[in-house]
Amino acid sequence: MPYNDTFLRACRRESTDYTPVWMMRQAGRYLEEYRAIRAKYGFLEMCRTPELVVEVTMQPVDLVGVDAAILFSDILISFPGMGLDLEFAKGEGPVIHNPVRTADDVRALRVADPLETTPFVMDSIRMLRRELANKVPLIGFAGAPFTLASYAIEGHGTRDYEHCKALMWSDPDAWNLLLSKFADTTIAYLCAQIDAGAQVVQVFDSWVGYIAPRDYERFVLPHTKRVIDEVKAYGDRVVEGGVPLIHFPNGATSMLDLAQRAGGDVIGVDWRLDMRKVVEQIDPRFGIQGNIDPVALFAPDDELERMVVEILEAVGTRPGHVFNLGHGIHKTSDPAKARAMIGFVHEHSRRIRAAAGTGA
Ligand code: CP3
Repeated sequence: MPYNDTFLRACRRESTDYTPVWMMRQAGRYLEEYRAIRAKYGFLEMCRTPELVVEVTMQPVDLVGVDAAILFSDILISFPGMGLDLEFAKGEGPVIHNPVRTADDVRALRVADPLETTPFVMDSIRMLRRELANKVPLIGFAGAPFTLASYAIEGHGTRDYEHCKALMWSDPDAWNLLLSKFADTTIAYLCAQIDAGAQVVQVFDSWVGYIAPRDYERFVLPHTKRVIDEVKAYGDRVVEGGVPLIHFPNGATSMLDLAQRAGGDVIGVDWRLDMRKVVEQIDPRFGIQGNIDPVALFAPDDELERMVVEILEAVGTRPGHVFNLGHGIHKTSDPAKARAMIGFVHEHSRRIRAAAGTGA
């Protein structure tokens, strides 16, 4: 089979025959093949077992036909190595039993050595690269400092962030030390993923949309920027042509200017912003990832197709578009709809390129 590197080339803003697609959370519960494995193992147990990581990472590649694989893991996987007692409680999502609330808690937190604390991630990446040969590129990932800190402070997912913001405003030194520790952990972790063979890395700032632009600029941006700058510099040193980095500031539609200042090669845009505005707001030096509403997979085929076409036509022949959902796929989505969406993206993006007389 010829190597499908369309996704990698789109991340580098090179011309491609069609627009590549992957879906955030593409390895997960909407696939009955995932549920069958998950019925036998705990979620963290799966993340820590390279054979299982390989199996579920491959599922959407083989069953749904995406143009990229993303490592099956979690943004919180480094927490235990930092001293945070993480559990995925049934029906509740992640819980941290010893949340960070005081400056002393921040000081007690360790910067995790990825090879010591999460060696199974790097083993999984190496196995995946062998398994993926001649299929599609592999994406590694990590959480951005703010999103990680918000879980560490609140102790679980939230919509309010009162403990988080209270610490940020009342003790900026403790806050900056905390985000520095997450930044250092994330830099080492992503560099280790690159060494193991991750071909693209994505930084998930999943909850940054809950912070006001003034606070993002002052308390968050410098840390995210340092992660991106250092990981980019490392990729440039160790991989010819560098390692593309996708920065996904979910919900940051009112501060895309600031998110671009934090950097990345490709900016991931959530589903809340019209793609016609996205192409105006994202500087042409960046690629764009996104941004169909994940719930579009519950629309009838003809409406889903219209939504796909609207996004593709808004981007036109601007290089560097990676089609994705504007956030993770819902667990009740129908895999057949996802396959249909990918077909629409491939078909119409070829048509748009042919009409414009461009393409590879
Ligand atoms: O995209 C992929 O397919 C790769 C795997 C992946 C998972 N989590 C698997 C997972 C990735 C990239 C993540 C990242 C992640 N984890 C994020 C950022 C992405 C985003 O949505 O913005 C966040 C915020 C987390 C934290 C997390 N992990 C939450 C909030 C939950 C519970 C919510 C839920 O969906 O149940 C998880 C658990 C989780 N991570 C599951 C999967 C497949 C479900 C676990 C299960 O099988 O029960």
